[in-house]
Amino acid sequence: MTEYQTIVVETRGRVGWITLNRPEALNALNSQVMRDVVDAATAFDADRGIGAIVVTGSERAFAAGADIKEMEAKTGVEMIVDGHFDAWWRFAEVRTPVIAAVSGYALGGGCELAMMCDIILAADTARFGQPEITLAVIPGMGGTQRLVRAIGYYKAAELVLTGRMMDAAEAERCGLVSRVVPAADLLAEASSVAESIAAKSLPSLYAAKAALDAALETTLAEGLRFERQAFAGLFSTADQKEGMAAFREKRRPDFTNG
Ligand code: CAA
Repeated sequence: MTEYQTIVVETRGRVGWITLNRPEALNALNSQVMRDVVDAATAFDADRGIGAIVVTGSERAFAAGADIKEMEAKTGVEMIVDGHFDAWWRFAEVRTPVIAAVSGYALGGGCELAMMCDIILAADTARFGQPEITLAVIPGMGGTQRLVRAIGYYKAAELVLTGRMMDAAEAERCGLVSRVVPAADLLAEASSVAESIAAKSLPSLYAAKAALDAALETTLAEGLRFERQAFAGLFSTADQKEGMAAFREKRRPDFTNG
């Protein structure tokens, strides 16, 4: 398995784990982290043996944002020409369901990384925010777009314009997180959710994720058309026959991911 500098990567059964590991910088997302996470996530995505990915950080920080010290001296031209954050779109494009297990700070790019995932499980210690405005910049990894879609314009605007943090309970109330769990249970809960997903048939997982994405990206009419096509397409898989036969025969399905 590839050696990474800024993350720890493990495979547990059909679940791929990516743990951010820059404790000295509260897991700030520098270019190396971006390369490592994108590389590990795309490798898991290409592996038929993986049905779910978990991204997590430390107890103290999921990630405290993009690396301010790396960005500080950059010019606008460098940011554009180097496409400083551009590779993150490849992470958002993985077909495999991704769970963010968030403990502690998920700020700026950290909150944006969580929002690139499909499920956000938060420890009761989690704190979310987009503090970029306090640095005289704005979110640059999708925050203004994904936060508005996740929690609505007025709540998102208040967070982006003031830079204030919200705790896990507020994040759950406004729909930014899927569920809040006691900090001590976060990884076990992430593991259980990931294993439950990874046990499903891959073609149906990919189709479900693509259809959910379509809900955020397109009109209702286009999204409904996409869903109908994807639904019909799954009837050409062996796993659809197996899933429905298993229901009728009152037994557990034995999926082959084909
Ligand atoms: N970039 C670089 N280093 C960071 C960092 C970041 N985003 N966040 C924390 N660190 C570093 C600190 O500089 C510090 O390093 P040193 O010990 O070498 O000084 C170390 O991590 C520990 O941090 P603190 O001493 O600040 O810890 P704290 O408990 O006092 O505060 C915090 C924690 C409130 C999260 C504070 O660190 C903080 O405000 N961090 C910055 C948050 C932020 O502004 N994020 C947005 C970044 S811009 C962005 O993300 C753009 C985008 O949209 C992509």
